[in-house]
Amino acid sequence: MQQINDLSARIAQCQEQIKAAVNRVVDSGWLVLGPEVKQFETAFAAYLGASDCITVANGTDAIELGLKALGVAPGDQVATVANASMYTTTALLAIGAEPFFMDVDLDSRCATLAEVTRALDAGVKAVVVTHLYGLAAPEIVQIAALCAQRGVPLFEDCAQAHGASVDGKRTGTFGAAASFSFYPTKNLGALGDGGAVVTSDASIAERMRALRQYGWSEKYKVQVAGARNSRLDEMQAAILGAFLPGLDAANARRRAIAERYSAELNHPEVQVPNASGAAYVGHLYVVRSPRRDALRAHLREAGIASDVHYPIPDHRQPLFGDRYADLRLENTERLAADILTLPCYPEMSDENVGRVIAAVNAW
Ligand SMILES: Cc1ncc(COP(=O)(O)O)c(C=O)c1O
Repeated sequence: MQQINDLSARIAQCQEQIKAAVNRVVDSGWLVLGPEVKQFETAFAAYLGASDCITVANGTDAIELGLKALGVAPGDQVATVANASMYTTTALLAIGAEPFFMDVDLDSRCATLAEVTRALDAGVKAVVVTHLYGLAAPEIVQIAALCAQRGVPLFEDCAQAHGASVDGKRTGTFGAAASFSFYPTKNLGALGDGGAVVTSDASIAERMRALRQYGWSEKYKVQVAGARNSRLDEMQAAILGAFLPGLDAANARRRAIAERYSAELNHPEVQVPNASGAAYVGHLYVVRSPRRDALRAHLREAGIASDVHYPIPDHRQPLFGDRYADLRLENTERLAADILTLPCYPEMSDENVGRVIAAVNAW
C-alpha cells in the first residue's frame, strides 16, 4: 500500500541525529524551557528572517496565544478562511472571538486581497491568512500592505508552509506575527506536538513569552491575563534543531515530486494545482476532480492512499448548528466537494511517484 505519508521512513533515515539530540537532553537533565529551546528558537527565527521565535506546545496554541498577543479579545471579529480545518476557528472560539469567514481563490485555495478588503470593511480586529498546502498566499504582499494601511494586524498561519517564500521573503514575516505547527507530518515536524509564534515586534514577543507561561513577567509574578502553560519541551526542540538544516532540501524534494505530478498527470477529469517555484513547499499536493470520490475509490483499489484536506468547511461544522446557515462561501464549498490529496513527502521514491501517476492516468 502506498501511504499518504511515511513517518517511519523519516525516523529511520534520521536515527543517528534523533538519538544524539535525545541523549544530549537526557544527559543534561534540563527538560523544559532550557538551552535546546533557546537554541532552536534562535535558529528558526534566523532561518525565517524574523527577530523572535517563541515556541509553544502546538500550532493551535500558537494561533490562540499569538492572536492574544496581538490584542485580540473576547467579542472581537477576526477574519479567517473556512477551508483550513477549523484550526484558526478553534483558536478564535477559545479566545471568545468571532470568526469572519472569507472565501478563498479557486486556484490558490488561499484568502484573496478582495476578501481581506471585505473583512476589513466589516470591521475585523485582525486578519489571519493561512498559507494552505504549502503555498504562500499569492497576494500576501498586497494583503500585508492593506492591513498596515488600515492599522489592522495581519497574522499568518504557516503550519503548512515552513520555508515558502515570496520575492525572497519567507512566509511568517509579512504580518505582525505568525504561527507554525511542528506536528510530525509538517514540513518541519517534531516527534510529537510542537508549535511556535514568530514575530519581529519586541512587545508582541514579550507578551507571547508571558502568555505561554502562566502570564509570568518574571518567575511567580503574574502580569498578563489570558495565559496558561503551553511550552515546547527540550527533547522536541533538540530534534527540531537537528531537522532544521535539512528543511530546504526536504522542501525541494517535495516540490520536485509535486512538479512531476503536475507535468505527468493527464487525466481529463483531474485538475492539477499550480505547484512550482519558491512560494510552494509541497506540504500537500491537492488535485481537483468532479468525480473525486470515484477517483479515491479507484486509487484505493490500486493500493494508493489519498485523503481529503478538508471535507467540511468551518461554517458547515455541526458545532455551529444553523448559525452560518445563510452564509455561502462558493469556492470554499466547491473545493470541499472536489479536492483530493495525493501522497507527496520527501522520502517517497521516484518509482512510487510513477505508480501514483500511472494509477491516476489509468482511471
Ligand atoms: C493550517 C494549519 N493550522 C494550524 C494547525 C494546528 O497545528 P497543531 O496540530 O500543531 O495544533 C494545523 C495542523 O494541524 C494546520 O494544518
